[in-house]
Amino acid sequence: MAATIPPAHPVIGADEIAAAVRVLSSGLVVQGPEVAAFEDEFSALVAGRHCVAVNSGTSALQLTLLALGLKPGDEVIVPSFSFAATANAVRLAGGTPVFADIEPGSFCLDPDAVAAAITPRTVAVMPVHLYGHPAAMDRLMPLATRHGLAVVEDAAQAHAAALHGTPVGAFGVAGCFSFYPTKNMHALEGGMITTADPEFARQLRLLRNQGMEQRYQNEIVGANMRLTDVAAAIGRVQLAKLGGWTGQRRANAAHFDAHLTGVRLPPVADGARHVYHQYTVRVEGNREAFQAALTDQGVGNAVYYPTPIHRLRPFAQDRGVHLPETDRAAAEVVSLPVYPTLTAAELDRIVEAVQAAVVPA
Ligand SMILES: Cc1ncc(COP(=O)(O)O)c(C=O)c1O
Repeated sequence: MAATIPPAHPVIGADEIAAAVRVLSSGLVVQGPEVAAFEDEFSALVAGRHCVAVNSGTSALQLTLLALGLKPGDEVIVPSFSFAATANAVRLAGGTPVFADIEPGSFCLDPDAVAAAITPRTVAVMPVHLYGHPAAMDRLMPLATRHGLAVVEDAAQAHAAALHGTPVGAFGVAGCFSFYPTKNMHALEGGMITTADPEFARQLRLLRNQGMEQRYQNEIVGANMRLTDVAAAIGRVQLAKLGGWTGQRRANAAHFDAHLTGVRLPPVADGARHVYHQYTVRVEGNREAFQAALTDQGVGNAVYYPTPIHRLRPFAQDRGVHLPETDRAAAEVVSLPVYPTLTAAELDRIVEAVQAAVVPA
């Protein structure tokens, strides 16, 4: 039997290794010129915004919320259908995550549910561009403006996604990206914060480095959330390839859209540029049997996320939360391999495996 097609395939190739070796050999490995260049180059992806590199996507979210001056009791509206990092960041920054449902048929925050979740304590809303699909920013931004809320985009999964021509990370007061290995581009680990406000960017730079801009001239209390120059050099190599990789992800997704039957295909909103961090179908029958059949045929697959955040132990005390679309999605979704290094033969194998795995209702 042919080799198993893994669900994800992080690229650590000759270019990435050469970049890392170049920086390691220089002896200057901590945050320095590579980080500055990475920030500069990433800016082109987010309509020229200021970029501040940090050591993870979670740090990006946490630092942004700290820079916003989050206080105990402040509420931040987040989707429950996301990776726990989204809500963890709110708690780590001292705030309270308030969970709102996703849109029927889509996987991102429902603006009507956000509106219903706003209280006098709400200070921010954190839409997640889940799976690489932009959240409904065209409705969320005016809603947030009306209520005086900060918008922090969790763009961890959505490098180069856009809505009506505006890239994600260029809507809110800040956009937060992740460079974890399985993401559309990586830096081994890492994150980036994007913002249009130079003063906010300066605040973030202070917070990531012990409150210092000049060495030992500490201005505020800060953390160490710096990215290394080794990681930044790898990130720069990957950033240069992101355009081609995104095109290939979208072509792979188009192939699945044209050939898969028996499952519900990923929705794409009007004006959305989906970058397919995941290609996620919904299985309305027996999902376990479907997954087992795919695995038997050597097609890796995964459920992101089987348990909504509001049902995870650290957040389960948030009682009275009723999120039917979130629960439905968590019960139905399966992500298929869609990464850019898949071969044409592998794409065909995936299509055939899905056809064979579909259990007639
Ligand atoms: C939606 C979402 N938010 C935040 C994060 C956190 O990013 P990181 O793993 O780089 O801390 C991730 C990824 O892991 C994510 O998928």
